[in-house]
Amino acid sequence: MHDFRYSGGQLHCEQVPIQSLVEQFGTPLYVYSSHTLTDHFQKLDQALAPLDHLICFAVKANSNLAVLRTLAQLGSGFDIVSEGELRRIIAAGGDPRKCVFAGVGKTEREIEFALRHDIYSINVESEPELLRIHQIAKRIGKVAPVAVRVNPNVDAHTHAKITTGTYENKFGIAIEQIEGVYARASKLKHLRLRGLQMHIGSQLTEVKPFRLAVEKVVPLAQKLHARHGFDFLSIGGGIGIVYREALASGLPRWWKETPEAGRILTPTTYANTLIPILRTLPLKVLLEPGRFIVGNAGALITRVEFVKRTGKKNFVIVDAAMNDLIRPAFYDAYHEIVPVKRKAGASVASDVVGPICESGDYFAKDRPLPKVGEGDHLALLSAGAYGSVMASNYNSRPLVAEVLINGDLCALVRERQPIEDIWQHESVPDWLIPKKAKRPTGKRRIARP
Ligand code: LLP
Repeated sequence: MHDFRYSGGQLHCEQVPIQSLVEQFGTPLYVYSSHTLTDHFQKLDQALAPLDHLICFAVKANSNLAVLRTLAQLGSGFDIVSEGELRRIIAAGGDPRKCVFAGVGKTEREIEFALRHDIYSINVESEPELLRIHQIAKRIGKVAPVAVRVNPNVDAHTHAKITTGTYENKFGIAIEQIEGVYARASKLKHLRLRGLQMHIGSQLTEVKPFRLAVEKVVPLAQKLHARHGFDFLSIGGGIGIVYREALASGLPRWWKETPEAGRILTPTTYANTLIPILRTLPLKVLLEPGRFIVGNAGALITRVEFVKRTGKKNFVIVDAAMNDLIRPAFYDAYHEIVPVKRKAGASVASDVVGPICESGDYFAKDRPLPKVGEGDHLALLSAGAYGSVMASNYNSRPLVAEVLINGDLCALVRERQPIEDIWQHESVPDWLIPKKAKRPTGKRRIARP
């Protein structure tokens, strides 16, 4: 499932001991495995081989240029949500013509940028957006390839903040309205109706909601294809991953997420369920997985700064914080936590917390962990998706370094952000600067400490 394993009592990523990375690059540190990335991409790609398909990696899950380049070399397309993400694809050597552009609030500037780079399709979320795309395409003399995002009204049974396919959510256009929208859009000369798209949510661990949604949408796609002659159906992303693999000792059996326990969706189950339904379509099938490809490929490594025992709790205070990995604070997400150097002995129920001044700044509560002390290192696993991309500078903490491992090779793929860079684009207005004070360069900048 992934390439973080113990060997000789030391946690390794592929063949590289994590301890050596800590010594070279410091902490907190994101570590990614090329092998896991590649393996997960290829497993999904192979499972879908009977279909004419294109995997468009959801860049929002992890947009590091080295990750994008690895996937581009495997033939991946990309699902983007902003001009910034499209610029990243270009910078990473990816192909804009294999990009689909999602999102409910695309600006005029973003649409124009995407059209000028001949992207595969703009996935449209509302009729006003269709009109905006048409106007821009007309102005710059292009025909815009578009697909409308259909909201199939299927509950994905996932976390409320990441479910998207019901009428409670802001996404897509209701399935009952789609035919009318296509009929109106077909009259707009600067649009090419290229496909139909859907995405019902993220971290789905059962196949049923996917099956229900695909069953609802396929007859509609047939009909629209016959009328408008388009060429693809995108079934979105959302395949869930294993977060509790019990690499840590002492987890009860029922807790383990294994395919046998029916607690996790494999590419084979996903493909075997959906292929028979999708095969009936004379269309290319697009997928937009993010988490499935990169989630288990990354870990966040952190140093124990203090262990603090209160009357009630054992707090393990680490140097990573909610600004580096927000998922536990934001979604109550579970990330497995293991020591970089394996420890013997009984485990202690611990709260693993960061240094930020908020009680929400935690990674685990009452988690059975081996006894650790100052200077030990811990790995937060399955942090490759929605980890570094959701990081912020809260508490003026710099964005952390990232390394990519490939066998016994290791490359720094993002430098730790220099602290001064955090405020480099800020300035102090004239009225706050005493009149007599000399500004040495004439620049409206405050001197850096
Ligand atoms: N396609 C669309 C249109 C999406 O909105 C998303 C994710 C994906 C594809 C990729 O979904 P995936 O295969 O990664 O599940 N920050 C949250 C997840 C937000 C997902 C948003 N949309 C988290 O940390 O769980």
